[in-house]
Amino acid sequence: MTRPGSAETAAETASEQWALVDEGWGREAVAFATLSEPANCREYVALHQLLGIEAGQEVLDVACGSGLAVELAAARGATAAGLDASARLVAIARDRAPEADIRVGDMNALPWGDGTFDVVTSFRGIWGTTPDAVAEVRRVLRPGGRVGLTVWGHIKDSPGAWALEPFTLASREKVANHAAMVSLGRPGAGEELLTAWGFEDVHRHEIPFAWEFADPDHYARALASTGPAYEAIQAVGEQAFLDHAREVAASRVRAGLPLRAVIFVVGYVATKPLDVPPPHDDEPSGSFLAPTPPSPGAERLRQDDVDELGYVMNASRLWGRMPGTLDGLFGLLSQCVKAGRLDQRTRGILVTATASTLGDAYCSFAWGGKLATSAGADLAAGVLLGDDTGLDPAEQVMASWARAVTRDANGTTSTDLQALRDVGYDDDQIMAITVFIALRLAFSTVNDALGATPDAELVAALPAAVADAVTWGRR
Ligand SMILES: C[S@@+](CC[C@H](N)C(=O)[O-])C[C@H]1O[C@@H](n2cnc3c(N)ncnc32)[C@H](O)[C@@H]1O
Repeated sequence: MTRPGSAETAAETASEQWALVDEGWGREAVAFATLSEPANCREYVALHQLLGIEAGQEVLDVACGSGLAVELAAARGATAAGLDASARLVAIARDRAPEADIRVGDMNALPWGDGTFDVVTSFRGIWGTTPDAVAEVRRVLRPGGRVGLTVWGHIKDSPGAWALEPFTLASREKVANHAAMVSLGRPGAGEELLTAWGFEDVHRHEIPFAWEFADPDHYARALASTGPAYEAIQAVGEQAFLDHAREVAASRVRAGLPLRAVIFVVGYVATKPLDVPPPHDDEPSGSFLAPTPPSPGAERLRQDDVDELGYVMNASRLWGRMPGTLDGLFGLLSQCVKAGRLDQRTRGILVTATASTLGDAYCSFAWGGKLATSAGADLAAGVLLGDDTGLDPAEQVMASWARAVTRDANGTTSTDLQALRDVGYDDDQIMAITVFIALRLAFSTVNDALGATPDAELVAALPAAVADAVTWGRR
């Protein structure tokens, strides 16, 4: 892909920018983390919401500062990562989100492999002066992954423009650089940049942003902890900067209310295109329904299959009509897996016992294969055929429960339940296991009723014992 603009000039600008900001941002890291960054929380929450950040997603925050956005992404259940050039800010980010993978580095050379993340964010970290960072964001996103960037909007028109005024104490050259940086917020600028780097579905949003401070002293100290303030301090000295900031804020004090500066912030959200081709006109649907029309959700399901399996499953072609519903169904299944503490072998036993009793060939093949991988082909074929001799006593009772629920949910008895308790399952686990079985039945029922055919590639890859065991259901 041809990079827009001169790559050399951009790289020089980027590395100069890095050195400058690193020096400025780390020196008052604790003050920044405690006095300044918390006031940005509205921006983080709003962009996370727009991007739909949720449990199970891999999320990277570029130029993460002291890591509040990383911590909030982790709080939504995401597997979070962050990167910042300042080691002192990164130390605080790691303290806040110990489980997250937070690294010191340059946004122009992200230390992660291609296609690692579902979502990449950057909160006023990527600017008009750092366009190469956008290429790196694109590289580390998986196909279909989403980027969310915020930048300052029209500062002069913002009611809280006064709060940024002390930055203009910096040298004329630095102030001009600030203007170049914030140019990405101009109408059309971010859309143009992201489109030039091959993103699609680019949308611009107004992002809520309000700094609040207890009093002019709090404001002056918070502002002084930031990178642009350091440039002003270099020009006029720290005391003069603080005095000026306090003076600016003094006229903004409101009785009984915090100092509040609402500043316009723009958010860009865009998608990295999928690299799986849309279905051909003559591609079979793999079910009784007509071929699923292309849509971002349907393409995502196709891409996930191609990445994982090398082909598109007929079930995914079918569910491409309702990808959000499939996500929801699998989200519920994940909740059961967590609540029931169901490992891969246990899930394999539950699904093979359920699918074989229902007479669903598709899930019998798919999960018979998975169970064969974790526990051996003979054991998997045995469970498919109702022979549980390879299972331990607790697994045998659980497989019997799956068959009983599938065969006749009204026919179960408290004695069946007691048998589960007797082998060590508590009532919360029994609940989770039963919901898991019911959700698998819903999935199997839709596939079977609509004629989703087990994939030839799936069956061909199975051990013979598993493939031969499944004599029921659709072909
Ligand atoms: C405006 S702050 C944004 C910080 C944080 N995202 C927030 O919301 O407060 C800019 C951040 O970019 C970091 N930074 C600047 N140049 C960088 C580079 N080349 N690579 C990584 N981080 C950089 C600074 O250390 C600083 O933490």
